[in-house]
Amino acid sequence: MARDLKKLIQEMTLEEKCALLGGNDFWHTKAVERLGIPQFMMSDGPHGLRKQDMEGDHLGVNDSIVAVCWPTACATASSFDTEMIGRMGEYIGNECQAENLSIVLGPAVNIKRSPLCGRNFEYFSEDPYLAGEMAASFINGVQSKHVGTSIKHFALNNQEYYRMSNNSAASERTMREIYLPAFETAVKKAQPKTVMCSYNRINGTYASDNEWLLTKVLRDDWGFEGFVMTDWGAVDDRVQGVRAGLELEMPGDTSENDAKIVEAVKNGSLSEELVDRSVERILTVLYDYLDNKQDGAVFDRDADHEKAAEMEAECAVLLENNGILPLDGTKRIVYIGGFAEKPRYQGGGSSHINSSKVVSALDAAKAMGRDVTYVKGFPADKDELDEAEFTKAVEAAKEADIAVIFAGLPDVFESEGYDRPNMDMPACQNKLIQAVAEVNPNTVVVLHNGSPVETPWADDVAAILEMYLGGQGVGTAADALLYGLKNPSGHLAESFPFRVQDNPSYLNFNTDPEQCVYAEGVYVGYRYYEKKEMPVRWAFGHGLSYTEFVIDNIRVSADTMDDDGTIDVTVDVTNVGRTAGKEVVQLYVSDKNGTPDRPVKELKGFAKVELAPGEKKSVTLTIDARSLSYFEEKLGGWFAPSGKYGILVGDASDHITACTEISFTTKKQVPMRMDTSITVGELLMNPVTAPVIKKMMNEMAGAGPVDFSEPDPMMEAMMRFMPLKSLISFGMLDHGKMEALLAVLKAEYEKA
Ligand code: BGC
Repeated sequence: MARDLKKLIQEMTLEEKCALLGGNDFWHTKAVERLGIPQFMMSDGPHGLRKQDMEGDHLGVNDSIVAVCWPTACATASSFDTEMIGRMGEYIGNECQAENLSIVLGPAVNIKRSPLCGRNFEYFSEDPYLAGEMAASFINGVQSKHVGTSIKHFALNNQEYYRMSNNSAASERTMREIYLPAFETAVKKAQPKTVMCSYNRINGTYASDNEWLLTKVLRDDWGFEGFVMTDWGAVDDRVQGVRAGLELEMPGDTSENDAKIVEAVKNGSLSEELVDRSVERILTVLYDYLDNKQDGAVFDRDADHEKAAEMEAECAVLLENNGILPLDGTKRIVYIGGFAEKPRYQGGGSSHINSSKVVSALDAAKAMGRDVTYVKGFPADKDELDEAEFTKAVEAAKEADIAVIFAGLPDVFESEGYDRPNMDMPACQNKLIQAVAEVNPNTVVVLHNGSPVETPWADDVAAILEMYLGGQGVGTAADALLYGLKNPSGHLAESFPFRVQDNPSYLNFNTDPEQCVYAEGVYVGYRYYEKKEMPVRWAFGHGLSYTEFVIDNIRVSADTMDDDGTIDVTVDVTNVGRTAGKEVVQLYVSDKNGTPDRPVKELKGFAKVELAPGEKKSVTLTIDARSLSYFEEKLGGWFAPSGKYGILVGDASDHITACTEISFTTKKQVPMRMDTSITVGELLMNPVTAPVIKKMMNEMAGAGPVDFSEPDPMMEAMMRFMPLKSLISFGMLDHGKMEALLAVLKAEYEKA
């Protein structure tokens, strides 16, 4: 029987209702014992449970229950496998059921604006389409177990520097195209039960007070049905928060702010209806969990550990390989680097998990009975050169057929709470990698890091395998990939620039404690490097395999589309190598109409497909008008001009192998200001006004100082930027004719 929440709310006193709008303690909502409303518990997230039974904190300081650390988002995004991350969500949802958790605090979908953000390991991508699809699948997976999610951190929280107070200043177009769509896709495709608002301000207003963000965008535009909670302590003006659409303040005890809400209702500055609405939204979510509680759900840590290791093998990205990989186990192989015994597999802060076990590459090698030797060479936890270890490692590399160096960023290099000062690997590691590569041409580097690093030795080594922060099964996965038991199939969810200085946010990242200006606009990641034709070390979408694939034979279900239409784009993918493997098919769209200020191309579809040697499969991806559109601020909405669009398919942003073109027609019009400040060029570009202005120009031929009777490209180019009012100044039109012209233009424009 459905619960009558409205009736329940009617039975509550104002104080009881306001109390429900804030947490009780670090992880619980408040109870109303008189009415039988229990407390509900939530926990971090995102890649496993950080349930704190004892003392809570939001920085991962105190212990939590033993749980499984799944691969972190930087790794899972590289899988480009929505089905896989959906399954991970199901396992985590099941773990929540077993641990009586109503909500897991994740996924985290902030865009990787800079490689330096300390928290990038928790985020998916520099690309909003990929981040949104991964997030939606994860949410659907968790919520299929009747456990809520909290997609975070809403919004424009792309740095740790002054994250609790900083103002993120961005244009609406930048927000709508880059920083909001991952949330939008998740809301539209998966309805996360909750959204967590970020600490920072957005164009001057704290996220927690921001009605535009929490109500206009989230609910009115996207149709969000759950409730919004604060990030831990991200409340500003609690009463304004209620008005803006912030339902729950976390953590507790929030009694002082609860009392402010009571007072505001009593003095008439806040409507009680808004309080009732907030309570109803919160209870709807919490009772959905309670009413579907799976009593007796069990959480099998060992089984989940195995799955975490299997998933990590789908995530790791083979960046370089001259053929040395997969390793020939009969060769003399030396493992070098502290990460071989102590892999870095998760990041610091609120997502830090008390892992049930951790398998290193050395553990895995031992379990597999591999004959490898090991020299530490450098420590995994700090940048410290140990001369004796260094020499020992170089000597061992000389003796061996193959040297595998397990490298990466120590914990202190990247974490929630602060950003990285640069993109460097520890100097001791760079030095040893270089020295080993000099003595052994068969040097393989295995990386453990949460975001891009500079790799000055990349051209000198034989192979590079990027594990990212791969969860507690990372060693098993590395072993399987290195020896070819699994075929690498991850592709980069972010660009690796050569140098941090190349990154588009470089001049505006962590420069001002007050404010961060998103000056690069929509040119984030590959959108920037492509526009600038700037080479990168590894491009977005790049990832190698032990086999080879061909993507070709592109065809479309139609070659024209309108505002309401869709087009299916199909390609063939063939495994032309000798090993089974998985390919990531990526579809990009490119505006061919000379529309100013658009990226060269943007990801609008992808699929991961498994193929036996010699096997061929067709993959179909669907695009619609939104796939072609940019956010037109003048329209306050999405717009793609009528014209041609390139459809580009490949297996990396820099490896497109199948292209075609489609035509698009739209009924939408970008509003034009029909006054004397409009330019001749603007009128010529619009198909509705162009005939009117052309006619006028023909009529003017010979009149005034400008002669239009002969084609004159220079004059035409200058006229493009001439406002109508200047035609009067230059004696080409008088006021009467101008009025008449404007009247005709307006009439034509309104008719269309
Ligand atoms: C983090 C959130 C986290 C919360 C609770 C905050 O500091 O930003 O991501 O969910 O703490 O631990």
